[in-house]
Amino acid sequence: MPEIVLEHVTKRWGSFYGVDDVSLQIPDNSFITLLGPSGCGKTTILRMIAGLETPTSGKITIGGQVVYDSSTGINVPPNRRNVGFLFQNYALWPNMTVYENIAFGLKNIRRDGRKLTKQEIDERVEAVSRVVKIGMFMDRYPAELSGGQQQRVAIARTLAPEPQVLFMDEPLSNLDAKLRLEMRYELQRLHVETGSTFVYVTHDQMEAMTLATKICLINNGVLQQFDAPMTVYDRPANTFVGDFVGNPSMNFVEAKGTAYEDGEISLSLLGDKRAVFCPNEPVDIRKWQSERDEKERIFREHEKERFSKKGAVEKSNKDELFAYHVQKVDEFTVNDGEGRPAVTQDDFVLGIRPEDLHLGTNEGIPVTVYGSMPTGMESTLKLRTGDYLLTAVVFGSTMFTIGEEKKMVADGKDVLLFDRTSGKLICAGALNFRPSEN
Ligand SMILES: Nc1ncnc2c1ncn2[C@@H]1O[C@H](COP(=O)(O)OP(=O)(O)O)[C@@H](O)[C@H]1O
Ligand SMILES: [Mg+2]
Repeated sequence: MPEIVLEHVTKRWGSFYGVDDVSLQIPDNSFITLLGPSGCGKTTILRMIAGLETPTSGKITIGGQVVYDSSTGINVPPNRRNVGFLFQNYALWPNMTVYENIAFGLKNIRRDGRKLTKQEIDERVEAVSRVVKIGMFMDRYPAELSGGQQQRVAIARTLAPEPQVLFMDEPLSNLDAKLRLEMRYELQRLHVETGSTFVYVTHDQMEAMTLATKICLINNGVLQQFDAPMTVYDRPANTFVGDFVGNPSMNFVEAKGTAYEDGEISLSLLGDKRAVFCPNEPVDIRKWQSERDEKERIFREHEKERFSKKGAVEKSNKDELFAYHVQKVDEFTVNDGEGRPAVTQDDFVLGIRPEDLHLGTNEGIPVTVYGSMPTGMESTLKLRTGDYLLTAVVFGSTMFTIGEEKKMVADGKDVLLFDRTSGKLICAGALNFRPSEN
């Protein structure tokens, strides 16, 4: 099964960049999810790989064969790219049986210069039907099937011609929650059984996390991170990714302090609280910041050069720094930078996953239980400290009372230190509140 490579692929309409300079290497036999908010360019990327949309510039290779290259004019039509599709609105032929729906696409394909025989088609239909468990419905019409069964027929129909690559664009979004979960398992199995490369579009972070071998996160047409799900979760490249992945979402805490040479920082945060951040590995934050400025300078120069070229068009949908949310009791502050003191080298934003906040009675900073949502398996809590609110997840069936007073610590080594200027991840480490001053 082939590897798919995108090199500097851009698609714009006028000055609107739907996909902006995306380079991506989709490994052989992987299950990739394209994840991002609605309108970020997921479908467009998929359609360009499939050949349904022509990029403005760049190069696309499938299994070593160049299928699109703006510099040489190569553009292989979709039907010669050996790819299969499954779209959100899969329309089955209502006047054909399940068997006929699946066999339909097989009647026209050619193998070794000839059409498939009736027996070959039969065998193929039977094989894919077994995979998606619809063998018993062969003679039924779509109207006689449930939504989930129809969906499986659509998957079988897509798989039947043995595409080397299978594209799916939000294929489960029409199903109810329970069925969607069930189908996720089926897709996972299907991937293992067929050995095809799957590229799957979704705006549902849970779906992306659970299915993928690697997640590709996109925002405003720009690639944000391309990594294994757990890496994306534990070490998000920036505040946008940290916020997008994970439910309930990550806490963002603004903090200020001067870093020592090994990266340890004595921070003031959450109003009058103090804490020490210890990076997991020594990091020279001043050096990190000057490298950041250097990279930014090179990027600006590159952009200037890019847009001064003949025929170049400036991006009207500008890339902006992600506005993370700081939860407060009376307000829900969005850090859009307006009306705030200028960000200095001593300003950071911490990202703390709700499950890393732990409650006890003697250690840590005092908090009050502001809200509690028990589900049986765990409780999602809102904890108040001063004017600030933090989200915590406590596993088990402990019950909490509103107004209850507790002590809170940040546990483990997965507290994230983000740069305020760029929103980028600097490092991960431990956060120790200073009890004496709290
Ligand atoms: N044919 C088109 N003409 C102009 N803009 C388009 C066209 N197709 C898509 N877009 C725009 O490009 C952006 C990305 O679209 P799309 O890839 O469909 O997003 P997603 O699948 O991530 O929701 C959207 O803002 C959309 O409005
Ligand atoms: Mg889409």
